[in-house]
Amino acid sequence: MTQTIPALLTEAAGRAFSDAGLPAELGRVNESDRPDLAPYQCNGALAAAKAAKKPPRAIAEDIAARLKDALPGLEIEIAGPGFLNLTPPASFYADRANAIAADDRAGAGQVAAPRRVMIDFGGPNVAKPMHVGHLRSSVLGDSLQRLFRFRGDDVISDIHLGDWGLQMGQLITELEDEQPDLPYFDAGFTGPYPDAPPVTIDDLSRLYPQASAKGKADPARQERSRRATAELQAGRPGYRALLAHFIAVSIKALRADFDALGVHFDLWKGESDVNGLIPELVEDFKARGVAELSDGAWIVRVAREDDKKELAPLILVSSQGSALYATTDLATILDRRREHDPELILYVVDLGQSDHFEQVFRAAFKAGLASEGGLEHVKFGTVNGPDGKRLRTRAGGTFKLADLIGEARERARARLHEAGLGETLAEAEFEDVARMVGNAAIKFADLQNYRTTNYVFDMDRFVSFEGKTGPYLLYQAVRVKSLMRKAGEQGLQPGEILVAAPEEAALVRRLDGFDAALERAYEDRAPNHLCEHAYSLAQAFSSFYAACPILPETDDAVRRSRLALAAATLKQLELALDLIGLEIPERM
Ligand code: ARG
Repeated sequence: MTQTIPALLTEAAGRAFSDAGLPAELGRVNESDRPDLAPYQCNGALAAAKAAKKPPRAIAEDIAARLKDALPGLEIEIAGPGFLNLTPPASFYADRANAIAADDRAGAGQVAAPRRVMIDFGGPNVAKPMHVGHLRSSVLGDSLQRLFRFRGDDVISDIHLGDWGLQMGQLITELEDEQPDLPYFDAGFTGPYPDAPPVTIDDLSRLYPQASAKGKADPARQERSRRATAELQAGRPGYRALLAHFIAVSIKALRADFDALGVHFDLWKGESDVNGLIPELVEDFKARGVAELSDGAWIVRVAREDDKKELAPLILVSSQGSALYATTDLATILDRRREHDPELILYVVDLGQSDHFEQVFRAAFKAGLASEGGLEHVKFGTVNGPDGKRLRTRAGGTFKLADLIGEARERARARLHEAGLGETLAEAEFEDVARMVGNAAIKFADLQNYRTTNYVFDMDRFVSFEGKTGPYLLYQAVRVKSLMRKAGEQGLQPGEILVAAPEEAALVRRLDGFDAALERAYEDRAPNHLCEHAYSLAQAFSSFYAACPILPETDDAVRRSRLALAAATLKQLELALDLIGLEIPERM
């Protein structure tokens, strides 16, 4: 049975409705919100009553009779004013469970028409270490790239480094003050420039805040940085050579953080890569009459009549002739179109940038650079401290992502020891387990919230092996793995699944719900639905395992059936956890 149980019931109920002369859509069957009464329900009779001018109960009785004929064995109860409560026979569960057990994708469907989708996430700025604000973009973007790929889309992810704005000019002037003799600042130098970078990542993270503070205090100093930015953008060779060093040094450091998190990108492009496209982009916007001159700057008016709040015009070229953040985003769309021609671009960026993306998207639509629906801002909220404000370090500074990852690993080690886990593992394996547990803690804690919800960072709760946490899920998966290993050692093989106990039926219902959870996560760009699924699956497995012993069971067919259910659960749990970016240890 390749259909999910709700789909099968919906199809039959739809036929019953249309045979009764009513719209087939009324046959929609969902999992019940009163599972104590029946696992599935259909509310169509109530919706039909008005138009059909019949009491809903009479309609429900008619539909029930037809459904009974179509699906013998289905238990139907009419509740209240005309709800249909449906309880499938054990054979439905068994058929579905066997199909899931035999399927590599554990019951997960695929999109009907795969698309090419680009995902723009991460977006760290060159020269600045990543901070906690980059956590959500990285974790959410990564889960979405996994999910979209798994559903069959052709996905290209791009980190979109911030490497082009005023911050670059600030770095250049600050370095010039520190080391004026470097050849990069000598306008008469004819090259070649040195291959070795003149700075380390630590230099960069020191220079940038220094420059930024000086710029704030001294307008002349800021003006110098602005000029340097303009010269860089105009192609001054020494500055371009410096920028290349800054980028290379930063990427090396960024890679270390992303590797530690287990997040990977296809493209490591940045804003600076599209500089060459800006002149033609601007000319095109002018020629189409999309850009207009205002106080020496070229702007695009993007406000619409029915806007609830005023949206400022997008600045394409500043009055000083510089390209700005929005300009590089527009040029990047052009670049992506030429290089990859995506049907959809998702921007996984915090919701504080909503206006920026609204401006960029509207300008792109106006200029025919993209079609409506082809650009989407996947927004997310903030990670907060216990005071409800953005998370900061105890000293009040920004929390570096690397420190956060390190702290999670540290706490994971402690928790493993407390729980008496991993004691038999060699040191290297234990460390690896601590890494997986630490990452699972922060990733799951982040993704289990709907993305626009702000959440409070509470490491103690996140690393707990109890409750709705990443470590709990890893622990459950490891338990099933070890059960399968023991069964293998005893020469036991999974067999055909038979469903008898209510806990078995409940577990199959969760297994059956995988596809719907995936679809929802995909449609809403919201991995929290996947987290919810993984958690409820793990819980259903626990109840099943407590009620239905496996290895001690003496009836061979029953034991093999339960073993097969465990194997199917493990496969699906592994897939689900992989989609949220969690790695499962072999043992703990
Ligand atoms: N670098 C930007 C920042 O730190 C984020 C980039 C987001 N992506 C984009 N295509 N604009 O604010």
